[in-house]
Amino acid sequence: MTGSMSFPRHGDKQNSSFFEDYLARLLEERDHSGLTDMIDQIDAIMITVDPGNSIRYIGELTLMTPYHYLVTLESKSHWTHILRIDMNSPDLLVREVKDRRTRGIFRSLNEVYPIGARKPNSRYMGEILRVEDTHKVVECQQAREFRFFSQDDIRKHELPGNLAVVKPSPYTHNIVGYLERPLGDIRVYALGISSIKPEVQEVYLAAKELQKKLRIDTLILPIDHLATRIYSQNREVAILEWLSLSSYYYWGSYDIRDQNSSTNVTKSVHHDSEILSPAKVFTANNTPYFVNHLERLPSPTETFVRNYGPRLHHIALAVRDGETGGRENIEHVVSQIAAQGRDFLLDVIGSRDQGLKQIFSSASEHSSLIIEYVQRFDDFQGFFAKDNVAELTHAAGVEEELVELQARSQIEAGKPH
Ligand SMILES: [Fe+2]
Repeated sequence: MTGSMSFPRHGDKQNSSFFEDYLARLLEERDHSGLTDMIDQIDAIMITVDPGNSIRYIGELTLMTPYHYLVTLESKSHWTHILRIDMNSPDLLVREVKDRRTRGIFRSLNEVYPIGARKPNSRYMGEILRVEDTHKVVECQQAREFRFFSQDDIRKHELPGNLAVVKPSPYTHNIVGYLERPLGDIRVYALGISSIKPEVQEVYLAAKELQKKLRIDTLILPIDHLATRIYSQNREVAILEWLSLSSYYYWGSYDIRDQNSSTNVTKSVHHDSEILSPAKVFTANNTPYFVNHLERLPSPTETFVRNYGPRLHHIALAVRDGETGGRENIEHVVSQIAAQGRDFLLDVIGSRDQGLKQIFSSASEHSSLIIEYVQRFDDFQGFFAKDNVAELTHAAGVEEELVELQARSQIEAGKPH
């Protein structure tokens, strides 16, 4: 039996006794009931974008990541494009809503947030986890009071019919789906009519050609971690909820005092390498927004959540350790992509001595998601250096302030936004 509490703890952030007590109780019970062994890796992640954005977003993603375009599934009100690296790393499902007026639960999660509402259909939806027996997992999770979409809801929302999908988390607004797939079987999504769309194939092939020309095609590795931002008061419950839904364990939390926030990491019990199942990271402010006037502390994380809603903030991709053309690979990748007109929020930060180098791209205009690149040196196991995280968080906050200002000036000028 896998012992989910047997992994070494990292970090310096203090948790409450509520968290520590329930962490042990929840994981011991999860192991004991067999659920830890019934749930395996992140098999896919899902993103929805507004009408007219998916093809350009796929152009962006296939240039900046190792993903390949596989096929498009067409249902009544969505196109769902399937991107894949191989069967060892999660698929990426990019859904486009056909009609701007489409309403639904996922859209409503954006609508109460001032900046989230500007791209009402664009949001990261969540992860699909591979299971051996959906029925058993659903039964166990329902006994833990998790609520699932009915088969009818799944049809209505045009989600793949072969998934069991938990309703959006009150803390992260993400969903978790379970996909029954015996190891060795190919991933299939039961949704609509499948075809290879020539217009998608064209941008995909052009991006892969460009990757080769820029000599970055073998340097960018699969997803390393997925980082979700949540309200300060939800830090502990969001972690515990995710651990209850998955077979991940609590790796540890770092206090990023400079930015008044913390970074909290969970990892797969079954896979040591993030390439096989990305780490899930949660970032939360240390203090809620309404004490800012007393404390005068920076609060970029809380501000982000207030503007966009709790949601995924960035997808981090690993960069192969090594050098190309006399520069560290991450420097080479970033300068080659930046030369194509893609902005990055700051220079590459970190060092070999700190164990890793990292950078954030600017947020995609299609999904609002940031791409992080991370190069680890000599088998470094960590996710960040504290100084790096403070700088990254600060830079992302500055960009969001600009977006907020633009949004406000457009509203004031009465322009459509
Ligand atoms: Fe990150």
